[in-house]
Amino acid sequence: MGGVGNDTASPNSFLSDKSAKVFVAGHRGLVGSAIVRKLQALGFTNLVLRTHAELDLTRQNDVDSFFDSEKPRFVILAAAKVGGIHANNTYPADFIAVNLQIQTNVIDSAYRHGVQKLLFLGSSCIYPKFAPQPIPEQALLTGPLEPTNEWYAVAKIAGIKMCQAYRIQYGWDAISGMPTNLYGPNDNFHPENSHVLPALMRRFHEAKVKSSKEVVVWGTGSPLREFLHVDDLADGVVFMMENYSGLEHVNVGSGKEVTIKELAELVKEVVGFEGDLVWDSSKPDGTPRKLMDSSKLLGLGWNPNISLKDGLVDTYNWYLEHVKQ
Ligand SMILES: NC(=O)c1ccc[n+]([C@@H]2O[C@H](COP(=O)([O-])OP(=O)(O)OC[C@H]3O[C@@H](n4cnc5c(N)ncnc54)[C@H](OP(=O)(O)O)[C@@H]3O)[C@@H](O)[C@H]2O)c1
Repeated sequence: MGGVGNDTASPNSFLSDKSAKVFVAGHRGLVGSAIVRKLQALGFTNLVLRTHAELDLTRQNDVDSFFDSEKPRFVILAAAKVGGIHANNTYPADFIAVNLQIQTNVIDSAYRHGVQKLLFLGSSCIYPKFAPQPIPEQALLTGPLEPTNEWYAVAKIAGIKMCQAYRIQYGWDAISGMPTNLYGPNDNFHPENSHVLPALMRRFHEAKVKSSKEVVVWGTGSPLREFLHVDDLADGVVFMMENYSGLEHVNVGSGKEVTIKELAELVKEVVGFEGDLVWDSSKPDGTPRKLMDSSKLLGLGWNPNISLKDGLVDTYNWYLEHVKQ
């Protein structure tokens, strides 16, 4: 663990009282479920959790009533409408409106109901399409966004700004964390709209089961990407709840880059597919490099712990247990 779990925490610290009420919004998602696992492992006994069906966070009155009756001390906001390029292109109104509603309702209601500290989660898509690599926090709002996900990105940027505005106007401890590409248990392995890592895992798995001779992957495999196991992110979230109370949002990444080719070969090995991996270089590659500069969080003393290989093994074990064959 990257520094989380100290026993000398001050009385107002996140870790000083494991019976403090913590609301983890979006607890059944990839990120929220990892945060819940982490908090439970640390001994937190009073987590407040609501499924989407139990509490629709786009409904302001319901969110207000929830905060009024539960009065959590801490909030971690991992609920969002997320999706890939196709979903963003097809449902731009949903991506901007739902995310603005969720975060506006939760952040404002949390402040008005006396929450001590809130952490808002966004993603690397907040940064300009042509941001310098690795991307530092200061790149925010320095250029045009990637058009395919600007609806989602604009909502997430508004969330960062809302946390800053409430800190400036009210002195309220609201912070934002921007994770890199995540993977792990509870990821989305859908055949059409999953991210590259779970999509590769599923394809190699299905090819293994069918004893296929080859798996064809789009592009040349040369783009560089960064991945963080979601359990490392959960550790980083707890670290920030304990150690960070600044105005600026914070990048959370592994700092380790792999080519898509290296990733695919590692996934192939972990899954145990023995056929060939074929690259279809007539298909587009996407952005050549995307890496976050996480030196700010690393400088505060946090470190990710899970190697890509170990993380892939863990994720594949989860896949085998949970995803319909
Ligand atoms: N996955 C990544 O690689 C990644 C990378 C960087 C940052 N993040 C960030 O992490 C956060 C969580 O992402 P995730 O990957 O964990 O997404 P996820 O797996 O789809 O989980 C999102 C959760 O939010 C819930 N939710 C959505 N709309 C809701 C509503 N109106 N009311 C109540 N609950 C609602 C969902 O419940 P239902 O499923 O029942 O709707 C789900 O449990 C997002 O802010 C995302 O930007 C993710």
